Amino acid sequence: MRTDISSVSPHRQNLPRSNARTSIYPSIDPEPLHAARFYSGKVILVTGASRGVGRETALQYARAGASVAIVARSRKALNETRDLIVAAVPGADVLVLTADVCDVESVRSSVQDVLQHFGKMDILIANAGAITSFTPREYPLPFPSFVRIGTVHSFGLSAEQERS
Ligand SMILES: NC(=O)c1ccc[n+]([C@@H]2O[C@H](COP(=O)([O-])OP(=O)(O)OC[C@H]3O[C@@H](n4cnc5c(N)ncnc54)[C@H](OP(=O)(O)O)[C@@H]3O)[C@@H](O)[C@H]2O)c1
Repeated sequence: MRTDISSVSPHRQNLPRSNARTSIYPSIDPEPLHAARFYSGKVILVTGASRGVGRETALQYARAGASVAIVARSRKALNETRDLIVAAVPGADVLVLTADVCDVESVRSSVQDVLQHFGKMDILIANAGAITSFTPREYPLPFPSFVRIGTVHSFGLSAEQERS
């Protein structure tokens, strides 16, 4: 459920409406990169691309001309990401890879698949992750959960080892 901050923050309530920014700052606007096909010829691997930030990141790179490999555990959701990208960028080269980034062998095999399919990997977006609620009752996290969440973010290291 979305919370309208103006209803909970008196400070925000006093801000004039004209202060609300609805457009994209020019320095982070992806449109010029899309128009120039700036990432054409590049191969981008995005972990955690089955939804959320990773899905959008993969889409934006594809719009800018990149070939993308998308990684997560849910093949069904990854296929939805692939379909979304191909609908937006007809002819986009999208490689779907299911892997648990906590599992080193699974990660190695994904990187091998990328190298086999595209012949290279230019950029790795190690986005897969898990956020838990840190309420006082639940914190500190049980050690196995802590280790697992940390490990999810280690995909970059594993991939780099695979390249060397
Ligand atoms: N959204 C925020 O406000 C926020 C704030 C701070 C940091 N972040 C970080 O930004 C990243 C993306 O956030 P988000 O909001 O887009 O998260 P999200 O919607 O929960 O998506 C997480 C993605 O990571 C994948 N994933 C999770 N565990 C995985 C595993 N073990 N192996 C492979 N893939 C795994 C999920 O796919 P499957 O479940 O299909 O595997 C999903 O695609 C995360 O690393 C998060 O910690 C987000």
